[in-house]
Amino acid sequence: MSGMKYQLSLPVTVGVLLVGLPYSISLAAQWLYGWPNKPGYKKYTEALKPRRIYCLTIAVLESLKYLQYGRLYIQLKSWYKNEDNRKHFEKGITFGRRGNKLDLYHPPNAGKAQGAPAPLVVFIYGGGWGSGERSIYCLLARRMAEELRATVICPDYWTYPKGNVLGMVQDVADCLVWAQENGRTFNFDTEKVVLIGHSAGAHLCALTTLFLIDEREELFIELSQQRDVTLSIRGIIGLSGVYDIMDHYVYEQKRAVEYVSTMHKAMNGVENFQYYSPTHLLRDLSQDKLSRVPQMALLHGTNDVVVPHEASAKFSELLTSLSLKVSLYLLPDLNHTEIATNLMASDGRFYHPIYSCIKQEFTKLLDNC
Ligand SMILES: *[C@@H]1O[C@H](CO)[C@@H](O)[C@H](O)[C@H]1NC(C)=O
Repeated sequence: MSGMKYQLSLPVTVGVLLVGLPYSISLAAQWLYGWPNKPGYKKYTEALKPRRIYCLTIAVLESLKYLQYGRLYIQLKSWYKNEDNRKHFEKGITFGRRGNKLDLYHPPNAGKAQGAPAPLVVFIYGGGWGSGERSIYCLLARRMAEELRATVICPDYWTYPKGNVLGMVQDVADCLVWAQENGRTFNFDTEKVVLIGHSAGAHLCALTTLFLIDEREELFIELSQQRDVTLSIRGIIGLSGVYDIMDHYVYEQKRAVEYVSTMHKAMNGVENFQYYSPTHLLRDLSQDKLSRVPQMALLHGTNDVVVPHEASAKFSELLTSLSLKVSLYLLPDLNHTEIATNLMASDGRFYHPIYSCIKQEFTKLLDNC
C-alpha cells in the first residue's frame, strides 16, 4: 500500500514542481507588479503563455539573490543613523520645488584651514525609476568624497508612482540649481560639477543634462538659470546606465519582465520612450547645442544581466559618431549591483579597479576647459 502511494506521489510532486510552482510564482509576480498591457481577457492569455511563465520564474528566482544584500542594508542603515558619523556629512537639506532632501558629504580635511573650494560630485542613485533612497548610499558617498577629494551630494528624487520621469529630471535639475546657490555656504566650487549616476540614475544624469542644454520649458526653470547650470557641468560618469529606453524595453521583453518592470510606467508609456532617451535627444540636437554636451565616461560590468553592457557600448559609439568625447570601460566579472556596492567599502574586490577608472576620468573632466 505504502509503495503504491510512493509511486503516485512522485509524479505528482514532479508535476507540482515543474508546472505548479512556475505558474504560481509568475502569476503572483504579475498580480503584484502588473499584468500585460493588453485589452480585456488578452492580458491573461498573454500572462499565461508558457514562455512568459518560464522566463518570469527565472527572473523571480534571480531576484532572490538580492537577499544576500540584507546584511549590507542593515549596516548601511545603522551607519547612517549613528550620530558619530554626523561629522562626515550634513543630513537632510531640503531643496527644490518638491521639498526633496539631500545629504552633503565633506571632502577630506574639510573644516581644517579652509583651502580652495572642493569640486562637487552630484551622485544620482538607481533603482529602476521606482525605488531608492539616499540613506543607502551613505558609505558610497563618503568613500567617494574621500577618494575624489570632492564634496559629494546625494539627493532623493520622486520615483514612480510618486513621480514620473519628467518629475525625476526636474528633481535632478533642482538639485543642480541648489548647488549653484549654495557653493559658498559649503565651500565647494560651483563651476566644477561632475554628475555620477548608477543605472536609472545614469539615465537621469544624461537626460537632465540634455534637457538643460536643449533649454526645455517643461523643466520650469528660468533660462538664465538653466544656462548657468549647463555651464557648471564638467562631465558625466555613468555606471551601468540605460541610455536608450526602447532598446532596454526590447531587452526586458526578452526576459519577459517588460510588464512587471517599472520602466514603461515611469516613462508614461511606450509612446514617450524616444522622448526620454538620451540617444534620441542627441540625434536631434543642433550643432550649436551639441558643442555644449559635456564629456562622458561610461563604466559597465560585463556580467550585468539587469542592464547589458551593450547599452554603454552603443551609447559610447553614438557619442563618438557625433564627435563628442567619451571614455568606455567594460569591467570584467562585474554585475549590476556590485558596481555600486564595491564603491562602499575599501575591502571590496573591485573597489580599487573601479575607483581608479573613476578617479582618472574625474581628473580628466576637471582639467578640461
Ligand atoms: C553579483 O556578483 C556577485 C559576485 O560575483 C555575486 O555574489 C552576486 O550574487 C551577484 N549579484 C546578483 C544580483 O546577481
